[in-house]
Amino acid sequence: MKVAIASDHGGVNIREEIKSLMDEMKIEYEDFGCECGTSVDYPDYALPVAEKVANGEFDKGILICGTGIGMSIAANKVKGIRCALVHDVFSAKATRQHNDTNVLAMGERVIGPGLAREIAAVWLTEEYEGGRHENRVGKIKDYENK
Ligand code: RB5
Repeated sequence: MKVAIASDHGGVNIREEIKSLMDEMKIEYEDFGCECGTSVDYPDYALPVAEKVANGEFDKGILICGTGIGMSIAANKVKGIRCALVHDVFSAKATRQHNDTNVLAMGERVIGPGLAREIAAVWLTEEYEGGRHENRVGKIKDYENK
């Protein structure tokens, strides 16, 4: 599995935490910034990561900003992306099992590094269940392809 990860200035610490988690989990990843001591614009980081997942260059993406909201809104504009903003472990598991999400967004001003690690660990390993969910996810894909 190859993961693309990025954050704005509001998500640098959790980005580093998740990179160290992926090192421990032996998951391949590439860091797309930001290299920021100053304020940057989250779409400049969310959109390239989402495009790399949508075009198959990467299997999954992880995006962190202050709230996770801006990152998730931007990523979900890219066709083929199902990005979930997650701040609890139950949702991390459910959104992989039910929604087959391919991008995870989190907010560093909302949760701490310990919980972010647990969320990412679950989200990175949990499998999509398919079955009854395939029809539902399929309806989203059909809408995108209209
Ligand atoms: C940056 O101040 C902040 O707006 C950003 O990190 C994010 O929370 C946006 O949704």
